[in-house]
Amino acid sequence: MARTLLSCATVFCLLTLEVTDVLTVGKPVSRACVIGAGYSGLAVARYLQQYGVNYTVFEATRHIGGTWRFDPHVGTDEDGLPLFTSQYKYLRTNTPRQTMEYNGFPFPEGTPSYPSGVCFYRYLKLFANKFDLMKNIQLRSFVTSVKWAGDRWNVTYMKTDTKSDDTEQCDFLVVASGEYRFPSFPKFQGQNLFKGNIIHSHDYKEPEPYANRRVLLVGAGASGLDLATQLSNITAKLVHSHHLQYNQPDFSTTYVKKPDIREFTENGVFFQDGTYEDIDDVIFCTGYDFEHPFLDQSTGVTTTGKYVLPLYQHTVNIRHPSMTFVGKSKRVINKVMEVQAEYAAALASAKFQLPNQESMLKTWLDHVYSLQAQGLKIVDVNVIGSQMDNYFGNMTAEAGVVRTPPVITDIRDFNAKNRLEDLLNYRDYDYELIDDNRYRRWYNKREGFPCPIDDLEI
Ligand SMILES: Cc1cc2nc3c(=O)[nH]c(=O)nc-3n(C[C@H](O)[C@H](O)[C@H](O)COP(=O)(O)OP(=O)(O)OC[C@H]3O[C@@H](n4cnc5c(N)ncnc54)[C@H](O)[C@@H]3O)c2cc1C
Ligand SMILES: *[C@@H]1O[C@H](CO)[C@@H](O)[C@H](O)[C@H]1NC(C)=O
Ligand SMILES: *[C@@H]1O[C@H](CO)[C@@H](O)[C@H](O)[C@H]1NC(C)=O
Ligand SMILES: *[C@@H]1O[C@H](CO)[C@@H](O)[C@H](O)[C@H]1NC(C)=O
Ligand SMILES: *[C@@H]1O[C@H](CO)[C@@H](O)[C@H](O)[C@H]1NC(C)=O
Repeated sequence: MARTLLSCATVFCLLTLEVTDVLTVGKPVSRACVIGAGYSGLAVARYLQQYGVNYTVFEATRHIGGTWRFDPHVGTDEDGLPLFTSQYKYLRTNTPRQTMEYNGFPFPEGTPSYPSGVCFYRYLKLFANKFDLMKNIQLRSFVTSVKWAGDRWNVTYMKTDTKSDDTEQCDFLVVASGEYRFPSFPKFQGQNLFKGNIIHSHDYKEPEPYANRRVLLVGAGASGLDLATQLSNITAKLVHSHHLQYNQPDFSTTYVKKPDIREFTENGVFFQDGTYEDIDDVIFCTGYDFEHPFLDQSTGVTTTGKYVLPLYQHTVNIRHPSMTFVGKSKRVINKVMEVQAEYAAALASAKFQLPNQESMLKTWLDHVYSLQAQGLKIVDVNVIGSQMDNYFGNMTAEAGVVRTPPVITDIRDFNAKNRLEDLLNYRDYDYELIDDNRYRRWYNKREGFPCPIDDLEI
């Protein structure tokens, strides 16, 4: 087993482990840079500020909020940047807000447990405002290169107003650039012959254009299931190709489930069971690839479309521990990102000390070897999944970060199952924490999407 798990990438990292020592024991860093001002980057900013670290957040777009901000552009935005957000109209969170709220900063009383995407974006703006983060967030700064310059990081970014490049030097770097910008597209036989429209869910904005159309959805992850519920009542026919086992609701009489695609024709699609459907529009809900085009080789991390490695505690770049990643873990709730954010700030301010690089690598390898027992493969090296509460415990034990109580993981685990049991109604319930181990859940269907966040405050 060990042999098959040791991929070339793993061996490579073992061979080239080098000692770096920017993080001087007991001495806070003098300057931190953060890439991205989405949920993760905002959390990092909050804690860097709280721990007294001098920092700047570089955000490519004109806005904070990352994927929670709806942007009507498709493809590129007003500054010629690729669209970083995958938000669409009428989105509601698919996890209760209790698993997403920043510590000590709950949504106002009366907010549903599954707020709309619009509401979540307002919450992020309110957070940035309340914690006075904007003064350290540099908008319109698209990071194009991160290089290790011997004793610190060279961060080069393009300012989208002047289109000019600038380089900033930092002795600590946090990568919080998100996971959902590079759509993963499968390729099927005959796809180039197809005369209809093909998009990825990344570019999906609203159901209306699909009224009375014959639509094929591919995939049943979070996006595929959500779009099925959004589109089944408006399309002439909704064909859903996937192989998820779940309690499929009665979407509508024109909904058909299909196995995998065999091939496209000019006007439709053949499926693996030999059946055929005429199709006007295809939406690939086939997920995203990791991409970190700005990471120079000198950073020492190995990245592919599927993983980033080797990361100690799913966050520290083992080769250069003055670089951490926040929000690159898979199958997690937002709380994981907040915990990683506080861990980064605690590290930058020398509140705790990392083990030496060899021990970190050993811990990481132990994690790699444990993947198979969890039914995972090496490409899943960034998955936390079923290990979440254990992970929260470890992060607190090592860095003294706020312990996310077990009840949060319980809610997440329940929600993950319940979503597949009761797809059309699971969001009509509210949750309330009773203590660190218990919660209460009750039916509370509302009209519309209430969001009691005051306009004046954001
Ligand atoms: C449609 C959708 C719905 C979701 N719903 C839920 C949900 O209900 N519950 C849940 O728990 N999670 C959900 N998620 C997961 C979501 O990714 C997290 O909630 C969270 O928003 C991730 O935040 P982030 O800051 O890590 O990434 P992002 O929100 O993607 O933010 C990254 C930021 O980095 C910036 N950036 C990227 N590259 C650069 C660069 N080179 N230079 C400068 N800036 C850069 C981007 O502009 C962006 O502002 C959803 C994701 C999507 C796509
Ligand atoms: C933070 O660091 C930058 C770059 O070194 C410096 O210009 C700035 O004055 C520092 N800010 C504070 C508040 O110390
Ligand atoms: C890092 O940036 C500094 C200042 O701009 C420059 O002098 C140096 O050559 C750069 N180092 C690398 C490795 O790019
Ligand atoms: C479709 O509309 C019907 C009638 O309004 C409703 O009962 C049903 O829940 C809707 N289905 C979906 C998937 O929204
Ligand atoms: C937590 O730490 C223990 C002891 O080091 C380790 O065995 C376990 O794998 C860690 N769990 C996670 C999720 O990191």
